Amino acid sequence: MLLLALESSCDETAAAVVRDGREVLSNIISSQIDLHALYGGVVPELASRRHLEVINPLVEEALQRAGVVPAELDGVAVTSGPGLTGALLVGVSFAKAFAYALNIPFIGVHHIEAHLQAIRLEQEVAYPFLGAAVSGGHTHLYRVDGIGSYRLLGRTIDDAAGEAFDKVAKMLGLGYPGGPIIDKLAARYDGGDIKFPRPLLHRANHDFSFSGLKTAVLHHIQGLPQPLKEEQVGQIASAFQEAAVDVLTLKVLRAAEQEGLERIVVAGGVACNSGLRRRFAELTAANRMQVFFPKPLLCAVNAAMIAVAADYYLSHGKASGFDLNAVSSWPLEQVSL
Ligand code: KG4
Repeated sequence: MLLLALESSCDETAAAVVRDGREVLSNIISSQIDLHALYGGVVPELASRRHLEVINPLVEEALQRAGVVPAELDGVAVTSGPGLTGALLVGVSFAKAFAYALNIPFIGVHHIEAHLQAIRLEQEVAYPFLGAAVSGGHTHLYRVDGIGSYRLLGRTIDDAAGEAFDKVAKMLGLGYPGGPIIDKLAARYDGGDIKFPRPLLHRANHDFSFSGLKTAVLHHIQGLPQPLKEEQVGQIASAFQEAAVDVLTLKVLRAAEQEGLERIVVAGGVACNSGLRRRFAELTAANRMQVFFPKPLLCAVNAAMIAVAADYYLSHGKASGFDLNAVSSWPLEQVSL
């Protein structure tokens, strides 16, 4: 099955052409980071307008790069939630119109299901596995028994992990998005004596909290003479990353153990973090578990990942109707074949 896949849930417009939910023929992304950087965060109305401007040329380019003409497509896949409603609507409306014009089926896909299944574009992972979605909007752990079969094990009760990376970077006067910058600093500097809290690490549940960690970093910065020296910024970034990585890895591992799961898939933008990847690799090896990370391009928001579950659903006879709506909030447990 040859699918055109679209993603416009937040501040990136993405289009891809994927064969059989596995072979990526093209996968392109148009980021709006510069547009929103001026305001220090994503402005929903501006995001929708930019999606509208770029979606047509982006789809044309994705088809061209794949060497595919529209008549060859068997279906259209699109993120229909969760995300910013206005932004999602651009992709959903485009998908409906495109599918209608070509008389082919289309399907709305859950953004987090797409992240958790992105690994299949590179390699197969046997079910069941623990799926950890760690991004700018999510820090959610699921037991994954197959496409369309998810059980929530734990989630952040306040900020998402990526949000904490971005906010700490902002406090330190670093750029946006903060995750990659903190990652680089943490590789160069050592946190030394700075010890930030590991929120909820010893609670007997699988929930996370990053808001207290963020506040601890703020208080630490406020207690120092300003402006901070470059080395101090590096040390604080490193100590913060160490705390975040500690909590994420240890709690994910414990959740997998308690569920009797031997495989862990980590996905979403924060899964690009080199410290997180290293620590997971060490811990899983020591505990006879396996950890899987998609390559960075497939961890961050992209459209190819949307095609994995879409291909499965469409080839099992499930498609969306023209009454499909964009939904800002959509629990992953509600998806099913
Ligand atoms: O999945 P994603 O591209 O977008 C969504 O949030 O849906 O994730 C973006 C988040 C941002 O918060 C960014 O700072 C974080 O992922 N991120 C990282 C790294 N690369 C991106 N966080 C830590 N280390 C990184 N290397």
